Amino acid sequence: MKVLVIHGPNLNMLGKREPEIYGTFSLDDVNKKLTALAAELGMKLSIMQSNSEAEMIDAIQKKDYDALIINPAAYTHTSIAIRDAISAVGKPAVEVHISNIHKREEFRRKSYIAEVATGQISGFGGDSYLLALRAVKTILSN
Ligand code: DQA
Repeated sequence: MKVLVIHGPNLNMLGKREPEIYGTFSLDDVNKKLTALAAELGMKLSIMQSNSEAEMIDAIQKKDYDALIINPAAYTHTSIAIRDAISAVGKPAVEVHISNIHKREEFRRKSYIAEVATGQISGFGGDSYLLALRAVKTILSN
């Protein structure tokens, strides 16, 4: 089971970026926890972060994975192109958000990705990614 994890724009600034919303943990902390859980669950991970919509789409199109975990960050609310890439590839995809996007500004409540994702996990801080990995394990085992 190979899982592609994509962290979208500005998530490289986790820990320094609006800590009252996104917490004080770094992206490296998230990735270490994900890697440890993947080993425990017997899954392989490929992890990337990009501030570029095009790079994210190229990674989604590569297809050398069984399921996708994606935090599209601000592109969640704007990117029909990322939505179309996920739909085109047709693999299970879990949309992740650190904050609860439904509790924040009105513009964050719209996700173009939710319509093509298997499901969305939002609002559990860094643990949102760990919950997503457990969800993917279940999806791929069924
Ligand atoms: C985010 C929520 C988005 O609205 C925001 O643009 C982000 C991070 C989250 O993980 O909570 O950059 O995806």
